Amino acid sequence: MLSMTTRRTQVGIVGAGPSGLLLSHLLARQGIDSIVVENRGRDYVEERVRAGVLEQGTIDTLAEAGLGERMMAEGLFHDGIEIRFDGQAHRIDFPSLTGGKRIMVYGQNEVVKDLIDARLEAGGAIVFDVDDTAIEGIDGESPTIRYGKDGAEHAIACDYIAGCDGFHGICRPSIPEAALTGYDRVYPFAWLGVLADSTPPSREVAYCHSERGFALLSLRSPTVSRLYIQVAPDEDIANWPDQRFWDELQRRTAVEDAAPIETGPILHKGITPMRSFVVEPMRHGRLFLAGDAAHIVPPTGAKGMNLAVADIRFLTEALAAFYRTGDTAGLDGYSARALRRVWKAQRFSWWMTTMLHLSPNDSPFDRRRQRAELDYVTGSEAAMRTLAENYVGLPFETGLAP
Ligand code: APR
Ligand code: PHB
Repeated sequence: MLSMTTRRTQVGIVGAGPSGLLLSHLLARQGIDSIVVENRGRDYVEERVRAGVLEQGTIDTLAEAGLGERMMAEGLFHDGIEIRFDGQAHRIDFPSLTGGKRIMVYGQNEVVKDLIDARLEAGGAIVFDVDDTAIEGIDGESPTIRYGKDGAEHAIACDYIAGCDGFHGICRPSIPEAALTGYDRVYPFAWLGVLADSTPPSREVAYCHSERGFALLSLRSPTVSRLYIQVAPDEDIANWPDQRFWDELQRRTAVEDAAPIETGPILHKGITPMRSFVVEPMRHGRLFLAGDAAHIVPPTGAKGMNLAVADIRFLTEALAAFYRTGDTAGLDGYSARALRRVWKAQRFSWWMTTMLHLSPNDSPFDRRRQRAELDYVTGSEAAMRTLAENYVGLPFETGLAP
């Protein structure tokens, strides 16, 4: 290493995904200084294909924080979803079941682009393409983020560090193992996801249960489809040439009177493993974990980014209260407050996942029960309301201690 520079900030943030960027943005609005370090390049994080459903509370959070301009112009409001099984489509209407709440289809990478633009425009510090990120001193008064960039070594002295570096980041593993408890479930299936230049096959997001496995019809715009099929967890993507994907999708999603799915050039194809994971607590000393660094949900409930946004709201409130008054009660309560909401989203994501997928571990009894569950959830208004309430997003207040 040639040289070493040290900077100071109030909150050092590791990771420029939705969590880290939103935290930096919301803190700046409270007059709190932060620096974000990210080991990937700007193009990479802006183009990464991820989920795309925003809860009502996420839409409101972004809009209230001045991030709504492009989202409101280009995002697609949806009033419901479809659940398909046995050749029939069933609609679940959100506004009528939730007192007017809706969802929006807007790619996570678009949210990331909007956040990066807003931060850079406001003079915010995001350091891309760093290597060897490490954190130290989280048990003391002044924790430090260290990283390398362009052959030089850098350090950031912070009051607090936010670990927003996703599931594979370095922050969670920097906490002594004995101080954390992990709760984990790995599912015996994965999703093969495709982004295609084709007319979306369903007007609304459609969750399809079939004897051949689960499939999901989603979209990114009126001309771009986002499509998924359940595959084995160790599936080789080479086994899925484009035509095989389209044929399988058609079989799993067919309902009476539906036109055949329009195919088109496939822009991106990837396999997503399915797991549920939570670490407790979400704080150690002066390190706070948020988003995927602390928890993973299977994508069936579309909760991943929305949970990250809720964590960041709670963490911002706690940090803002501390810098305003010196009171650490909010910071001390952050983990419990966030986890209470996280576990409800975990429950919902697990429930949607087990209701809709075919599991090789299921007995004939499980399959009959699953079929009854689908019948119930699409036939009972009480059950539909339960699904709708969770899908549009539980209120942030449910995170408050009783
Ligand atoms: N140093 C710096 N940055 C890192 C490091 C590291 N050692 N390790 C990981 N990162 C970066 C990643 O490159 C990524 O940009 O941290 C960021 C973490 O972002 P996400 O994985 O998007 O996690 P988060 O911001 O919490 O967003 C949660 O993203 O993964 C989806 O489904 C998830 O929708 C959810 C949302
Ligand atoms: C998506 O559009 O990528 C999407 C939609 C709903 C989900 C998961 C992903 O549950």
